Amino acid sequence: MKQLTLQTNVTVCQLEELSPVLRELVETAKAKTQDAYCPYSHYHVGAAALLSDGQVITGSNQENAAYPSGLCAERTTLFAANANNPHTPVEALAIACYTNGHFTKDAASPCGACRQVMLETEHRFGKDMKVILYGEDNCYVFERAADLLPLNFVAENLQG
Ligand code: THU
Repeated sequence: MKQLTLQTNVTVCQLEELSPVLRELVETAKAKTQDAYCPYSHYHVGAAALLSDGQVITGSNQENAAYPSGLCAERTTLFAANANNPHTPVEALAIACYTNGHFTKDAASPCGACRQVMLETEHRFGKDMKVILYGEDNCYVFERAADLLPLNFVAENLQG
């Protein structure tokens, strides 16, 4: 028996330290929090995906009275991006959360299902996707979606 320690790489920085392109992507995600439909949780999440051709596709969480029918911001965004641009890689995804009248101090933390969808996006295009999690105190920048999901499940696992 042995113990394994799983490590992941993340850059912690201030919004102002990001490149102008990524800063603008984060500002877009922040603005999209206001388009969230979240009458049940009042937790507004916005996301913005930068595609390799320069397009920016946005989304927000969309809730439903039948709770599980709703969808997170990251998935509305990535599914819209991939459904309409099936051959265009996603270079970067920015996420921001707003609740109780302010953006969260801690960096946004995507749910497990969204991390899985981020990973699939990265795999389908064979290209790393940067993930920027906005927080008022700090931003977390991951160079690839896989860094948010250690011991993950991808297409190759289906081969056994
Ligand atoms: N939510 C997201 O949009 N993204 C996440 O990664 C976490 C949670 C949404 C789902 C629901 O509408 C609300 O936030 C509260 O869970």
